[in-house]
Amino acid sequence: YMNYRVPKTRKEIFETLIKGLQRLEYRGYDSAGVAIDGNNHEVKERHIHLVKKKGKVKALDEELYKQDSMDLKMEFETHFGIAHTRWATHGVPNAVNSHPQRSDKDNEFVVIHNGIITNYKDLRKFLESKGYEFESETDTETIAKLIKYVFDNRETEDITFSTLVERVIQQLEGAFALVFKSIHYPGEAVATRRGSPLLIGVRSKYKLSTEQIPILYRTCNIENVKSICKTRMKRLDSSTCLHAVGDKAVEFFFASDASAIIEHTNRVIFLEDDDIAAVADGKLSIHRVKRSASDDPSRAIQTLQMELQQIMKGNFSAFMQKEIFEQPESVFNTMRGRVNFETNTVLLGGLKDHLKEIRRCRRLIVIGCGTSYHAAVATRQVLEELTELPVMVELASDFLDRNTPVFRDDVCFFISQSGETADTLLALRYCKDRGALTVGITNTVGSSISRETDCGVHINAGPEIGVASTKAYTSQFISLVMFGLMMSEDRISLQNRRQEIIRGLRSLPELIKEVLSLDEKIHDLALELYTQRSLLVMGRGYNYATCLEGALKIKEITYMHSEGILAGELKHGPLALIDKQMPVIMVIMKDPCFAKCQNALQQVTARQGRPIILCSKNDTESPKFAYKSIELPHTVDCLQGILSVIPLQLLSFHLAVLRGYDMTAEYLRSLGHGVTGS
Ligand code: F6R
Repeated sequence: YMNYRVPKTRKEIFETLIKGLQRLEYRGYDSAGVAIDGNNHEVKERHIHLVKKKGKVKALDEELYKQDSMDLKMEFETHFGIAHTRWATHGVPNAVNSHPQRSDKDNEFVVIHNGIITNYKDLRKFLESKGYEFESETDTETIAKLIKYVFDNRETEDITFSTLVERVIQQLEGAFALVFKSIHYPGEAVATRRGSPLLIGVRSKYKLSTEQIPILYRTCNIENVKSICKTRMKRLDSSTCLHAVGDKAVEFFFASDASAIIEHTNRVIFLEDDDIAAVADGKLSIHRVKRSASDDPSRAIQTLQMELQQIMKGNFSAFMQKEIFEQPESVFNTMRGRVNFETNTVLLGGLKDHLKEIRRCRRLIVIGCGTSYHAAVATRQVLEELTELPVMVELASDFLDRNTPVFRDDVCFFISQSGETADTLLALRYCKDRGALTVGITNTVGSSISRETDCGVHINAGPEIGVASTKAYTSQFISLVMFGLMMSEDRISLQNRRQEIIRGLRSLPELIKEVLSLDEKIHDLALELYTQRSLLVMGRGYNYATCLEGALKIKEITYMHSEGILAGELKHGPLALIDKQMPVIMVIMKDPCFAKCQNALQQVTARQGRPIILCSKNDTESPKFAYKSIELPHTVDCLQGILSVIPLQLLSFHLAVLRGYDMTAEYLRSLGHGVTGS
């Protein structure tokens, strides 16, 4: 938050920053921090004061008021403060790992970051070789050190803050939204993004100089960093900046999400990838090295028409519903910086050092509970295909009950959204005791499972607040597929298949949006079904897991009896349940099991069953026998389960609402299952 010629006391500055963080807390809440100017009023000599705290934003708020050296009444005419709330991706949640991260003990440069830097280990090694000492385990700290390195090695004294940032981001791989503050540039702010969202709010009582900020490009567009350093940017003058006319008072708010700033202003600028936004002397300018994909030569100030509540939960009445609809982004975030669609390669940083060992193993054992177990079932076949290893999938409780034999040359995966489920954790310790290599696939860095495993993958789905797991399932699914792809990189015979899957991954976010657009149709279906006592979900092959997961969602939140049935087992008992009354959902996709599913469909209709069919868009056969059908976009067979589970997530949600369960009474996941296990 920057106030320019708007006098504010330190207390008011704190309140703005803390309030903003609290609005973002639903996205993550394991630690928080702020960086503000110290007590020296002389602009040129201001030092940066950092306060960081493990826990919720409230803990940071309390900490701020305990700081004796802070004069809360001190007034700043111009000030730039940054704040961050963290949901860890690298390093356990504690004060040192929380943001802002700093360049050195004097806090010359501080930075806050949303995203993941995938090449941070290489950068860290390089900086360490140059004598920079690291204090945290985060990827973000490399950014703070790197900017200091660039500054220390600058070739001219008058280098601008935004040029430094430009050079830094050219070295970064992965995804980021970054905001920098520095004692060398008092009263200046620089922000940039690639892959993570970032917007700038503007507030002033005075007329603004423009509604469109023209982008400044480098005069020479050369990829090589050194050459770029020598090129010049188009001239910065008043017409290329946004400010209040007559250099009057103006406030700027930088945020990853509009909810943090909407109570101050609804006038916002959305930055695009690789935009570098800088404020100096109350003037905002935006420049870029590369032309943007959209090639729009300016960024417009937009007026948001939303209320705060709407931004937090969107138009959704419950977090579960919001999280279902978040899947185009969460799925993208899981792949972000890991799948390279140009080179058809996948790099999971947390596994790369163990890959050789994993390739030599006797078998893979994938262990979890509930939905996390279903993610293992869903990907078993593709893992067998891509790794060419035997793959066992196990429910953690049963695995322990059986005292399952585990060997030193086994590799055991532990799938858990929370990273705290008791049975999964016990199974992990059991496998560790027997000398197996342990791999965590979790959504919670710093959780017991992520700490106790030898290596792992963070699924990056963002915090799952709704108690029924939805977006974590699709992200776990994708993480396991990515693992299979990484394992098979050198297998010549698998190259075509790998490319097909990687192409499939690329189009998933768009296809998920298409599935979500069927929501109304699924709501209508729920209207027909909500008074029923039972609901069967049937399928096979890649979609057996879809049926198990769909049935689990239905029973869990609608309190209706529901069973996932393997269609291949139909004639061995379950067929007895089928009649005119019993609602049956059949998942029939255009995949290698299609003909066998048709067979099951015939058996159901022969017993006067009235199947509701989830089928592929290009399937002209199945709908002929359906009581109702819902057509889904088609993707690669082994990824189809990601699309076909979504209608069942939506259905369970609508059924629960129609059956009168209050889905808006959110209770945090930590109060529900996932954490305690059985
Ligand atoms: C179902 C659900 C549970 C969890 C299970 C494991 O909607 O959420 O079945 O999947 O309790 O929890 P995690 O993944 O946290 O280990």
